[in-house]
Amino acid sequence: MQQSDPHAFRRSRAVVPVLEVLDEAGSTNDVLTARAATLPDLSVIVTGNQTGGRGRLGRVWVAPPGRTLAISVLLRPDGLAPEAFGWFPLLAGLAMSRAVAPLVPGTVAVKWPNDVLIDGAKVSGTLSELLPDLSGLVIGAGVNLSQEAEELPTETSTSLVLAGAESPDADIVLSSYLTQLTALYREYLTAGGDAVRSALRDEVAEACHTLGRAVRVELPGGDTLLGTAVGIDADGRLIVESETGRTAVAAGDVTHLRY
Ligand code: BTN
Repeated sequence: MQQSDPHAFRRSRAVVPVLEVLDEAGSTNDVLTARAATLPDLSVIVTGNQTGGRGRLGRVWVAPPGRTLAISVLLRPDGLAPEAFGWFPLLAGLAMSRAVAPLVPGTVAVKWPNDVLIDGAKVSGTLSELLPDLSGLVIGAGVNLSQEAEELPTETSTSLVLAGAESPDADIVLSSYLTQLTALYREYLTAGGDAVRSALRDEVAEACHTLGRAVRVELPGGDTLLGTAVGIDADGRLIVESETGRTAVAAGDVTHLRY
């Protein structure tokens, strides 16, 4: 990837108003957050060499240089109620699943809330963060392009190459993701942030292989919930049915269990 080349990412540049390609960044979410005040809706920062990537729930996102993409997108959903922001991680995961699905022979699915899996192995994760002044949010996505097995952070991860994509082109992956993301975002805004009316809930539910499965959810407070994931409510929360009834989970670490 020739990141300094102004012609690089030609397809992706046509999709969004601002696309800045960095040779290296600590965390693209941090860079975009720091610059957000001067940037319009749907501005993007991308790098193939992210040295201080952050994941959900305080984890790190580790990626060897040149083998992944770290993408951050600024969203300024004017007029949307803060409750509607809960759908953005799901929207981003759905967009990434649609971007990678045509590139690999396996089954691509979303794992609630925002991982993308190929045949059950994680190829992408997203991290959505509010701007400090609450005027918008940054959606970060990491996608594994070409790591070999020994370069992956866990045994349950994969890359597009390992999943069967032949030399995935970073511009095609990025432009497809941005195209899917902007389309879903505009539909959601048009529906006033109503995920049911915009069909986002149904589309996420269709792509989400968490539904119908036995799950273990590690909740932010330290509790564990064991049950079956039975749906996603109007606010994007995962509904888990357990011995004690139904619980709506807004945040947590989900493991798909195989009984
Ligand atoms: C996760 O799976 O826990 C989420 C990983 C999110 C990683 C992306 S890479 C681009 C953006 N910048 C970051 O520091 N993190 C996100």
